[in-house]
Amino acid sequence: MEFNFDIRRILRPDEDGFVILSPQAASPNNRDLNQIIDELGKASARAQNLKSVITTAVRFFSSSDNKLYIKVEDDKVVGILKTGKRKLFHTDMIGKITEMTPLCLLDFYVHESMQRHGHGKYMYEKMLEVESISPNKIAIDRPSSKLISFMRKYYGLSDYLPQNNNFVIYHQYFDVIIR
Ligand code: ACO
Repeated sequence: MEFNFDIRRILRPDEDGFVILSPQAASPNNRDLNQIIDELGKASARAQNLKSVITTAVRFFSSSDNKLYIKVEDDKVVGILKTGKRKLFHTDMIGKITEMTPLCLLDFYVHESMQRHGHGKYMYEKMLEVESISPNKIAIDRPSSKLISFMRKYYGLSDYLPQNNNFVIYHQYFDVIIR
């Protein structure tokens, strides 16, 4: 995704092309940064056919523990990935409800022109490394069919019980193999 200003000056990506923002560490008053977050949030919602946008600058800067990973290549933004902890209730096969506060994948988007080139995997791996977490321990908010395929392909994760809250927690989260 391209912008009509120098995104590298605003984002200052590291040598791997990543910018990792937390609400406390970034400035909420940078108009260009807010535009980048808003445009990517809108594009992500469009790509997922969502009725409302999940990631906006205002919402991000008013959150407490969300993290936003932005990937840059040359003068373009490749995509975004947002994480945060959420209190969830998970119902298992016998109806037992467990309260948990897992790290959640809240939003994930790679620009249409760059999908299926390995950028998503690269971004996800970066997030796993920064968070020091294995893929089975992440809850996913309403995964799209593309993300379902992505998790199966790269991490062998496919089995879960659908929940009312629409978060997917793979069986491997509990380190139990259910056949
Ligand atoms: N159809 C089916 N599977 C797909 C597609 C597609 N059009 N695009 C990517 N995938 C999955 C497949 O498993 C694919 O492997 P394959 O090409 O061998 O079938 C794999 O992802 C490709 O891996 P990457 O190239 O590393 O992934 P990519 O850079 O495309 O990023 C992402 C994956 C983020 C899901 C991207 O396709 C995207 O932005 N899609 C649109 C938005 C979206 O669905 N985001 C996830 C929403 S859920 C959430 O945010 C919590």
